[in-house]
Amino acid sequence: MKRILIVGAGGQIGTELTAYLRGIYGASNVVATDVRECKNLADGGPFEVLDALNATAMASVVARYHIDTIFNLVALLSAVGEKNPQMAWGINIGALMNSLEVARQHHCALFTPSSIGAFGPTSPKVKTPQDTIMQPTTIYGICKVTGEMLGNYYAQKYGIDTRSIRFPGIISNVAPPGGGTTDYAVEIYYEALRSGHYTCAVPSDVYMDMIYMPDVLKACVQLMEADSAKLVHRNSFNIASMSFTPEIIAAEIRKRLPDFTMDYDIDPVKDKISRSWPDCLDDTCAREEWGWEPEWDLSRMTDDMLEKIAQKLKDNTL
Ligand code: SER
Repeated sequence: MKRILIVGAGGQIGTELTAYLRGIYGASNVVATDVRECKNLADGGPFEVLDALNATAMASVVARYHIDTIFNLVALLSAVGEKNPQMAWGINIGALMNSLEVARQHHCALFTPSSIGAFGPTSPKVKTPQDTIMQPTTIYGICKVTGEMLGNYYAQKYGIDTRSIRFPGIISNVAPPGGGTTDYAVEIYYEALRSGHYTCAVPSDVYMDMIYMPDVLKACVQLMEADSAKLVHRNSFNIASMSFTPEIIAAEIRKRLPDFTMDYDIDPVKDKISRSWPDCLDDTCAREEWGWEPEWDLSRMTDDMLEKIAQKLKDNTL
């Protein structure tokens, strides 16, 4: 990875991944793009407005900046996808197909996130294996499974260096996620500090895998820098870091903010989605093939989230 293009850089992952990659590879070597102007990204290095559904425009940016690696981060998340499945398919698969084709034509490596949402109710729930039944019941998950298969197809047929990770719900304190089933685990921290109360849309007893953003950033670089000869899998790797229910994260917050309260107003869509996903993934293959190891657990993450968000509230920068 020397000259990197990030497509969909204005979202939850891209906002932090852009700065992280610029820190490692040099600001001028990381071109951030998004469908909208993003001042924060443009301030730190090259930025272009790019509609990922426009393959010609994407190819032109790749050629102009001599790109060798593409991160395609464009996606509508699970809950919002259920409101407009046709649009979710059009955007999620459209951006991926364009990225694959541009990668093929311009000999680039390609990273695309997959998700715990690629699994469904027929997958084993606990220690979900790397290779198992994948029959998701959301359009988001169907896009992710399709994306994994397309990534492997382009690797096998055209020799494109495609790689991917099945991310747990991502928790961060910079850019918000939008329209995901796991968003509650981000919102809860903001509300705990703002109002001391949170109304949760996900059932109290449902376990889902979660991960803190610093581990996400580290994993992206580690996988893309991994020795290709050691990769048995490509699209896509299970990774695991922590798994909890809404009650468990609330109890963790209460250890620091004893007056914090939570009630429930269950969203039927999120209820169904969250119950269809695994409780926790088995990440043995990622550990063996490219050395994956998480650094953050629920307790340390909770300390860090509360500290960072409290600081932003104090500085009035939220
Ligand atoms: N965080 C995503 C969602 O909830 C899952 O990858 O949709």
